[in-house]
Amino acid sequence: MKLPSTALGKATGILTVVVVVIAAVLIYFEDEDPVQYSSMTEDIRSLEENFRQHNRSCFILGASGETGRLLLQELLQRNIFSRITLIGRRQLTFEDKAYENLVQEVVDFEKLDDYAAAFEGHDVGYCCLGTTRAKAGAEGFVRVDHDYVLKSAELAKVGGCKQFHLESSRGADKNSNFLYLKVKGQVEADIEALGFDRFTIYRPGVLLVDRQESRPSEWLARKFFGAFSPVFSSMSIPVQVLVKAMVSNTVLQPEQKTEILENKAIASLGEKNAAK
Ligand SMILES: NC(=O)c1ccc[n+]([C@@H]2O[C@H](COP(=O)([O-])OP(=O)(O)OC[C@H]3O[C@@H](n4cnc5c(N)ncnc54)[C@H](OP(=O)(O)O)[C@@H]3O)[C@@H](O)[C@H]2O)c1
Ligand SMILES: *[C@@H]1O[C@H](CO)[C@@H](O)[C@H](O)[C@H]1NC(C)=O
Repeated sequence: MKLPSTALGKATGILTVVVVVIAAVLIYFEDEDPVQYSSMTEDIRSLEENFRQHNRSCFILGASGETGRLLLQELLQRNIFSRITLIGRRQLTFEDKAYENLVQEVVDFEKLDDYAAAFEGHDVGYCCLGTTRAKAGAEGFVRVDHDYVLKSAELAKVGGCKQFHLESSRGADKNSNFLYLKVKGQVEADIEALGFDRFTIYRPGVLLVDRQESRPSEWLARKFFGAFSPVFSSMSIPVQVLVKAMVSNTVLQPEQKTEILENKAIASLGEKNAAK
């Protein structure tokens, strides 16, 4: 069947208008410009070298997850820590030789006080822990994403940890009406109150990652955001870029005690290092 060319032209015209309007709305809601670092002009490599000299140690919560797994890989590659400890609910197995010096602490998150020792003596903590409401129910979600995370941060602080890096989410807001964003915002605020020397909050948008387990809605969102990544630069991020940003940011000296990196700031910091 052949459409009359005027009808086709009209349809194309309407479609174009719709796309332009959507793009304009999305650009309007883009994040603020990235945070400026005083030391940003310095070479990250030399800061890394300097950081390495101090024989520091770190722990990772959620190292079996999509972000944590890649964060661990990036930390091993860039080798800025003398010791890396994984804290999780189960023992992980790794084939690669690069992983042989890892320390693993298996804990019961329902009785974290009994495992205070696991959180002692780390300079830096990374938290990539989290579940979903679909997996754990509303109550379970709060338990993991708020209670487990906050308790871990408390124990780390008591155990001498100086820097805490939290993977939160774009839109986190303790006053939000959405449970997800509210819980993320609440745990940010509660950890800030613990008074770490340095507390970094990462607020990535949709993580672009090839997840092993299937989550149809995330898959769809990923395809969608991935295809339009230039337009959606503030709404999604490859998880590989996020972990590069987390490691680079660890060696930088921020101006404030608490810093929040929105999606755009994470992307620009992470991409700076993509060459390596
Ligand atoms: N996915 C996104 O698009 C997105 C966007 C923005 C922010 N975030 C946030 O970023 C964080 C990490 O996301 P991700 O996608 O990398 O996570 P993920 O792949 O789902 O991994 C979650 C991690 O948390 C652990 N965990 C989950 N439930 C637990 C429980 N009940 N007890 C103990 N450990 C538990 C998992 O351990 P096991 O392997 O033992 O289950 C795993 O290590 C989450 O807080 C998420 O909300 C995600
Ligand atoms: C770090 O470890 C190396 C090798 O074990 C040692 O020579 C150096 O003095 C240590 N540096 C600090 C700051 O502890």
